[in-house]
Amino acid sequence: MKPQFTPLYRFWHWLMAFSIIGILGTVVLRKTFLSWRSNAELIQAKLSAAGTEVTAETAKMIAKAIREPMWEWHYIFALFLALSIVIRLYMVFRDPKIFPLLVLIRAPKEEKLQRGTYFFLCVSLMVMALSGGTLYFHEFLGFSKEGVHWVKELHENIMYAVLLFVSMHLAGVLRHEFVTKESIISKMIHGDDEPV
Ligand code: HEM
Ligand code: HEM
Repeated sequence: MKPQFTPLYRFWHWLMAFSIIGILGTVVLRKTFLSWRSNAELIQAKLSAAGTEVTAETAKMIAKAIREPMWEWHYIFALFLALSIVIRLYMVFRDPKIFPLLVLIRAPKEEKLQRGTYFFLCVSLMVMALSGGTLYFHEFLGFSKEGVHWVKELHENIMYAVLLFVSMHLAGVLRHEFVTKESIISKMIHGDDEPV
């Protein structure tokens, strides 16, 4: 049988998984330890206790500057995500049968949920990449910051869809692994083309 877990397929999968996990990590840090709101309050309170008064505006500027190097990683991981999308498009170009919508339509009834999850995961990742790219290059594209505000809202909200489909995917993979005992995770790491 033709191997499903080819080196290119595995490379694409782990590059994408690594980039999504990294991107989500930057979002978690931005909303928690490196949140400018809580850090600005902390900066203002600590400086005030040490006898130096700074305005809320200055404290916010410092808190954002502290967050900046971490947030750069949002864009670095985004580059890896973009590379993984290019690889996937190349794979679809080479073999149009693997186009996620076609796979979903052609899937037997018992595989619809799995294929549907992959399809919507791919769609939400494409929306994230396109909206993120639009935000990043808004000046270059000739849009004002206010003009792309709705894109930012879309970008933030679609993240919940990504979280939902990634969770469904992980639950499905674990179920597959333990119910069918087909070592699907090991195949995604080591491949299925070597003799066992
Ligand atoms: C956030 C990260 C992840 C994303 C975005 C992701 C995405 C995907 C997608 C889109 C597919 C379908 C590929 C196709 O069209 O055939 C897939 C397949 C697969 N993924 Fe992931 N994945 C992630 C993390 C993981 C992790 C952590 C594991 C292992 C525990 C894993 C194991 C697998 C396996 C075994 C398959 C093949 C399933 C099958 O053929 O039915 N994935 N993944
Ligand atoms: C699954 C992928 C992604 C997720 C989950 C994600 C998540 C987020 C979230 C939640 C925010 C809002 C942060 C906040 O204001 O609190 C954000 C902002 C942003 N993201 Fe993403 N993102 C993803 C991919 C990308 C990609 C591919 C790019 C492309 C460069 C990108 C570029 C941006 C930009 C430019 C901002 C605005 C930052 C700012 O206002 O300072 N994102 N992202």
